[in-house]
Amino acid sequence: MKLQEKLKNMEKIALAEIMEAVSMDDLEKAKVKYLGRKGEITSAIKGIKSVAKKDKPKVGSLINELKQKITVLVDEKEQAFRNKEQALFENNDITLPGINDEIGHKHPLIKTMEDIVEIFVNMGFKSVDAPEIETEFYNFEALNIPKNHPSRETFHTFYVENGMLLRSQTSTAQIRVMEKEKPPIQIVHAGKVYRPDAVDASHSFMFYQLEGFMVAEGIVFSDLKGTLERFAKAYFGEDVKMRLRPHYFPFTEPSAEVDISCFICGGKGCRVCSYKGWLEVLGAGMINPKVLEFVKIDPAKYTGFAFGMGIDRICMLKHGIDDIRLFYENDVRFLKQF
Ligand code: PHE
Repeated sequence: MKLQEKLKNMEKIALAEIMEAVSMDDLEKAKVKYLGRKGEITSAIKGIKSVAKKDKPKVGSLINELKQKITVLVDEKEQAFRNKEQALFENNDITLPGINDEIGHKHPLIKTMEDIVEIFVNMGFKSVDAPEIETEFYNFEALNIPKNHPSRETFHTFYVENGMLLRSQTSTAQIRVMEKEKPPIQIVHAGKVYRPDAVDASHSFMFYQLEGFMVAEGIVFSDLKGTLERFAKAYFGEDVKMRLRPHYFPFTEPSAEVDISCFICGGKGCRVCSYKGWLEVLGAGMINPKVLEFVKIDPAKYTGFAFGMGIDRICMLKHGIDDIRLFYENDVRFLKQF
């Protein structure tokens, strides 16, 4: 093929290739292919020497024209790509924060539970697990609540199959642990409990409790009081005061309900404490010797205390939440706030 024809072909292909380039990369490749040191234009120039003498000027100027055309088109395309990039850059506010994948966080109840457990673990308590599906023995009998005992009524219970039930209190953990471990014992257990209560702003059919207990030689009531006071101050603040009111639980004797001074108003009376100045936070007492006998721990040698608190209630008090149902509705607008 004569060089003139080659040049015609090259023109068609080269111009098409450059026009069709969709990226700076494509364009750069075409530029090297035609205009580069070892490119097709260079080799066409080298080809002039084999052209008939009379045709040389014509072929020479053909090559120059083609080189010119290719160069102009490459420059135009390059400019077009740059303009596009610039436009993208200008329409983008690069100071805007990036799009982050949103990472969730722990549920406020789990957070509260872990914070409380940590306080007791720091005091030397060991945190253990315990089953939620239980027998009447662990939920009632071993805790000194025999059948027909009136207090059994206060622990309304969901029964499931085969005489099993959903535990209505975490005190089951006392029995579960003391069956296996012998004093000295110092345990906390936190988890779900279930009661078929009518659901309202302060009742849920499922909620969380934390149980703590200690059994050893020479444990007395002041050990219970000191332990709870340390917890109350660590969790609610060092200014918080605590008081115990006599109460009744079948598995502790004597028993008490424990209040803390309202950490919102400092005891003066406000909406959170219903203008009483005190907030009820837990039930406690010295483990009933009958319970120790049930798990074959000698009550003549060992004594112990136990306490149980509602984690939902403590979380509500701490954060000023006035409806327990919010914890279980899974509305992220609520959950995000903690
Ligand atoms: N189990 C009791 C309740 O659910 C709380 C409690 C635990 C009281 C331990 C005394 C000792 O109400």
